Amino acid sequence: MPKDGDLPQGDEKAIIVEQMFDQIAPRYDLINRLMTFRMDVGWRRRTVRGLSLEPGSTVLDLACGTGDFCDDLLRFGLNPVGIDFSAGMLAAAATDAPLVRADVLQLPIPDSCVDGIICGFALRNFKDLTRFFREISRVVKPGGRIGLLDVSQPSNALLRWGHGVYFDKVVPKIGALLSDPSAYRYLPKSVDYLPDSETLLSDLQMVGFSDATQISLSGGITQIFLGTQEL
Ligand SMILES: C[S@@+](CC[C@H](N)C(=O)[O-])C[C@H]1O[C@@H](n2cnc3c(N)ncnc32)[C@H](O)[C@@H]1O
Repeated sequence: MPKDGDLPQGDEKAIIVEQMFDQIAPRYDLINRLMTFRMDVGWRRRTVRGLSLEPGSTVLDLACGTGDFCDDLLRFGLNPVGIDFSAGMLAAAATDAPLVRADVLQLPIPDSCVDGIICGFALRNFKDLTRFFREISRVVKPGGRIGLLDVSQPSNALLRWGHGVYFDKVVPKIGALLSDPSAYRYLPKSVDYLPDSETLLSDLQMVGFSDATQISLSGGITQIFLGTQEL
């Protein structure tokens, strides 16, 4: 774990992120539910609905962690495959979906062969976001859909202040009580890695999701990016 204030980059970041999720995996789901007051469940379902894919479609859940998105995809009649590089997170998963241990920046998947991609709360964890966007564009079929769910900053100043206090002060305390203190100090800080919504939208449009849109949820504390691969 890096010292407080340090945000690692490149290969060092990937190693630290993998070790951190291995470490916090056993209580990851419990802390997610507590710190979001179970709102994460609704955010994931909203993202799956946003894919608007036919039942039976194949969807990769990238950086699937413990597979919450995989379960939602199954509920909607879709065929998920979860991919994550943390052996600990995959071991803690209780989903019926097939899970693969791999780096999502180098997907072991041929070009243009999946109907959809979903990814939850992982963009800020990747060492190279541009590479991730190129990789999802490579594997999604023309007309295929993406749904990326991640944290955001409310635009309302009061909400942003309240959310900042909660995320920076309360979340690390919940994490320290129930799990690994340094990981839950690092997680709020890692939001600094995430580019603003406009930059993310334009990056997605550049790699082939020309209709990409952003939807703010719950007063702007979370956001979804949806897009369709060009035909
Ligand atoms: C915050 S968790 C999100 C888990 C899950 N998607 C969810 O919605 O709860 C981030 C996940 O990204 C995974 N991850 C980060 N970088 C990765 C990479 N390059 N390849 C595969 N998995 C990665 C971590 O192992 C971790 O499980």
